[in-house]
Amino acid sequence: MRSDLFAERIKGIQVSGIRKMFEAAPPSAINLGLGEPDFAPPENVMHALAMAVRVNRNKYGPTAGIPELRQAVAERLRKFREDVEMNNVLINCGATQGLMVTFQSLINRGDEVLVPNPGFVLYARDVQIARGTPVYYSLSAKNGFRPDMEELDDLVSPRTKAIVLNYPGNPTGAVISKHDAGALARFAVDNNIIVITDEVYDEIVYDHEHRSMLGTMDDLVYINSFSKTYSLTGWRIGYLATASAIQPELSKMQYYDIACPPTPMQYAALEAMKGPQDKVKERREEFRKRRDLIVRSLNKIDGFNCFVPQGAFYVFPSFDFDMTSEALAMRILGSGVICTPGSAFGPGGEGHIRFSFANSQENIDKAMDIVGKVVSGLKRK
Ligand SMILES: Cc1ncc(COP(=O)(O)O)c(C=O)c1O
Repeated sequence: MRSDLFAERIKGIQVSGIRKMFEAAPPSAINLGLGEPDFAPPENVMHALAMAVRVNRNKYGPTAGIPELRQAVAERLRKFREDVEMNNVLINCGATQGLMVTFQSLINRGDEVLVPNPGFVLYARDVQIARGTPVYYSLSAKNGFRPDMEELDDLVSPRTKAIVLNYPGNPTGAVISKHDAGALARFAVDNNIIVITDEVYDEIVYDHEHRSMLGTMDDLVYINSFSKTYSLTGWRIGYLATASAIQPELSKMQYYDIACPPTPMQYAALEAMKGPQDKVKERREEFRKRRDLIVRSLNKIDGFNCFVPQGAFYVFPSFDFDMTSEALAMRILGSGVICTPGSAFGPGGEGHIRFSFANSQENIDKAMDIVGKVVSGLKRK
């Protein structure tokens, strides 16, 4: 095999830390690792998918998605920004692909992109794959995982092209305040950089209404998905919205990536949006109970300190055991609970561990008992 077989862009890229843990887990382990709701898709949405297949909506469709779904997305987004039209919307294969298309379309070799640290695993790697340079900005538990505007002022340079925001955040569970949203929008406009805002957890917010960055400025790519809201993670269907001058270029890139989003899934997603929304609310309430349970349990265990997440379905406690987050996650995994080391989310995640509470209250209870026992013998710092 030739030594230069693999492209530079893939050589330094590691397998995601989340996947690694999952693959190492015994089959009986309680999974507080992966980021997907444990619920089934709503009945009406499954029915719509079956119907779409039956009536032969099985062919290629438009690259930007079927007009009915783009229209429905635009209507929904008008609660955040009045002027959103179908032409601003691109349906895609989930936020994962939406982000890839965005970075591939906007980032040149050497462009810098500000990414949250800790932050969701895709951002920095996607920037690198686009041959750009991720520049980490810190989100610290002490500061409620809010961005530090002074640090951002120090990090921004003439090469900075974009900043990635993610509220509600994975892994932090933090949401954005009105003050911070305004400050971030001003920062982006003043420095002439585009905002890429990942809001896939917008329907999983506990204590307030979701606040979107969509209405705050024009040079922005808004990323969302049907995965988390409707428990459709395996269906690979999502959407983005952006200025009408940006959308056609992203759509052009998307053609070379996927040709078009999957047709039957789009009809099912349309039903998800247009049909009853009671499941979304019911599940949010169930997540709230689980959040309260896991935060209470963790804060009772000596050595953990847990911030109360206001959105998404993760807790990201800090710990003061004398070991790395990877070693701690492995110890916990060895006793039958899958979790994710904070370091999987960037160097700023070290000293933390992520538990997903997308699992039953009964399993969360069992898992917290196990975690309590595992860590009771560990040396503290
Ligand atoms: C913050 C964030 N963005 C994007 C995604 C990917 O979502 P999708 O299933 O739409 O690709 C995830 C999944 O965990 C996520 O946590």
